[in-house]
Amino acid sequence: MVIVDEKLKHIAFIMDGNGRWAINRGLSREAGHTQGAKTFERVVKYCGDIGVKCVTVYAFSTENWSRPKSEVDRIMLLLERYLDRMMKRMDEYDVCVRFIGDKQPLSDTLKKKIQRVEESSGGKTLRLNIALNYGGRAEIVHAVNTLISRGTCSVTEEMISENLYTADCPPPDLIVRTAGEQRLSNFLMWQSAYSEFYFTDTLWPDLKEEDIDLAVESFYKRTRRFGGVLKSEAVPKSPH
Ligand code: IPE
Ligand code: IPE
Ligand code: MG
Repeated sequence: MVIVDEKLKHIAFIMDGNGRWAINRGLSREAGHTQGAKTFERVVKYCGDIGVKCVTVYAFSTENWSRPKSEVDRIMLLLERYLDRMMKRMDEYDVCVRFIGDKQPLSDTLKKKIQRVEESSGGKTLRLNIALNYGGRAEIVHAVNTLISRGTCSVTEEMISENLYTADCPPPDLIVRTAGEQRLSNFLMWQSAYSEFYFTDTLWPDLKEEDIDLAVESFYKRTRRFGGVLKSEAVPKSPH
């Protein structure tokens, strides 16, 4: 178990590979999502245990509506069940949950459950953002439209950042994607400008605490320059 410090406040996960995990076992894709939901709960708990302040998970993208209805329905049902469990035992979940994305197309039942959990889970140790019907492009468009509706004619980077769904969180220090794909798939496009990326071939349902340790260890070996030059890397003074 690795313990993180203020250098690693926010980890984001692209939870990919549920479908392949199930197909490899001759199971339905839905079964893969059921298993993936268990991994999600374990990962969130572990991140809290190692001292991470904020976790963002990509649960469903704006593009994932194109999947078969049975699969979409299962993902939504799994989220409902998670929210039900959380509502029943709120004090056991030391997390403050926020959904990021456009909630409007969600079912009324899910919307109500989200609202109840969001209202009752403030002030906890770990902030958990669940990206649901989330798209990075849609989020930026939403931020700009919010500003326009307030009469803004020109925007700054700060104004856009302040109007994203994640406005009250630091940007992700580390983005972990499982299942071998090395792409963002429209996740946190704005916020990931200086994030470190960690890709693993492990499928999401197979992800273990040790795999998170490996990602964290990899993060601590990186040099983050944010476009600058570190003192230790500065060119030595020329004798001339
Ligand atoms: C989970 O993995 C991601 C979600 C969209 C919920 P996938 O369902 O994309 O799994 P693969 O990529 O098909 O294996
Ligand atoms: C990204 O995974 C979305 C989530 C993890 C929710 P996808 O499986 O939808 O991404 P692509 O289609 O492989 O890029
Ligand atoms: Mg996938």
